[in-house]
Amino acid sequence: MHNDKKIYGIAATFKTPDEIINAAKKVSSAGYIQYDVNTPYPVHGMDAAMKIKPSKLGFVTLVMGLAGAALALLMMYYMMSVDYPMVIGGKPFFALPAFIPVTFELTVLLATLSTVGAMIALFFRLPDNQHPLHDTAYMKSVSGDKFGLVIEASDVKFDEKSVTDFLKSLHALNTEIIYYPEEVAYPIFQPKFIMFLIAISVVVSGGTYFMLNKLVYMTPFNWMMDQDKLTPQKPSELFADGRGMRTPVEGTVAQGFIPYPYKGQTNPTEVLANPFLPTKENIALGKAKYFTYCTPCHGDFADGDSRLRGQFPNPPTLHSKRARDFSDGMIYHIITNGQNVMPSYASQITRDERWAIVNYVRVLQRAKNASDADLIDMNKEAGSNVAN
Ligand code: HEC
Repeated sequence: MHNDKKIYGIAATFKTPDEIINAAKKVSSAGYIQYDVNTPYPVHGMDAAMKIKPSKLGFVTLVMGLAGAALALLMMYYMMSVDYPMVIGGKPFFALPAFIPVTFELTVLLATLSTVGAMIALFFRLPDNQHPLHDTAYMKSVSGDKFGLVIEASDVKFDEKSVTDFLKSLHALNTEIIYYPEEVAYPIFQPKFIMFLIAISVVVSGGTYFMLNKLVYMTPFNWMMDQDKLTPQKPSELFADGRGMRTPVEGTVAQGFIPYPYKGQTNPTEVLANPFLPTKENIALGKAKYFTYCTPCHGDFADGDSRLRGQFPNPPTLHSKRARDFSDGMIYHIITNGQNVMPSYASQITRDERWAIVNYVRVLQRAKNASDADLIDMNKEAGSNVAN
């Protein structure tokens, strides 16, 4: 017998679940508080028999979950309505439906983390590898087919003899006195020791980092991450006006881009002159492009007989006196700029192709409004006219 050792408690084993429930009831009615039950599997009704109140862990989850939701909403209210209000997709600054995902995430995050944290820190503590019940005959039997109960020596009512007699009176199979282990055999596995190791490593690595990188290591230049540079949304120190780049000098033209001087004018007083002669090739190009881009609305012969009848306003004929009196530059201007409902074709048709189309429109106009001189000419040199 180890009578000089400190007693942890007295354990008793029972044969059936009914007996252990009965024993737990009697022990709790007898006024013992510091006792526990060990069974090979969960026994229903044990909480009630031991008069254990429901765990308060759920309250931690509830409170921290609500705190997470409130925090998320507050954060998004501050960021999206106060600090940096920005219209996104036409939604109000405080757009609750759009905020739900973040709110949900933060609710779950805080609720779960705090539940685990509270479980370890407040309610159940870290596992104890040196628990007195470990490696006892009692623990072996209740891990198999017996049901056990331990009344701990820390209970105010504890007395070695009376507790043993009491447990025997409950028809325990046998009772066993459990002692604290004599010494800590493997301190390295103790949670406290592991925490100590973690604390030491944090202090050592933190200290080393600080010493080497901040105290000892002085670089002769700025790290790239610290150098002056342009940061979006922040004034830059590079120029006095806070901008990071200079705006181009007025009148600067991007490479490969020739500006159109009469852009946006509805009735330009001045227009460009036609740089292309109506050669056979140029007119052939103009005809091809006219058929691609103009015939859907203006018709094959520019009569304004749109194929899009009913879907788009019909254009006027280009054989009117008005259209015939347009200068080449004016027709070029209408193609480039559009006119009223007719959209601009500047992005579809190149400058040279636009001039070619102008030449072809001239061909159509002359063909429909031929003068007597034209007719005589045609008779003379049949087949040599340009509008063939
Ligand atoms: C989507 C249909 C559509 C296409 C394609 C279209 N136009 Fe037009 N165009 C119109 C309409 C409609 C008008 C009349 C605009 C107005 O109310 O001033 C018009 C007007 C014009 C006029 C001025 C006529 C006038 O008397 O004021 C010219 C010139 C002209 N178009 C040339 C062209 C050329 C050349 C093309 C091919 C590059 C072309 N259009 C392609 C619909 C079109």
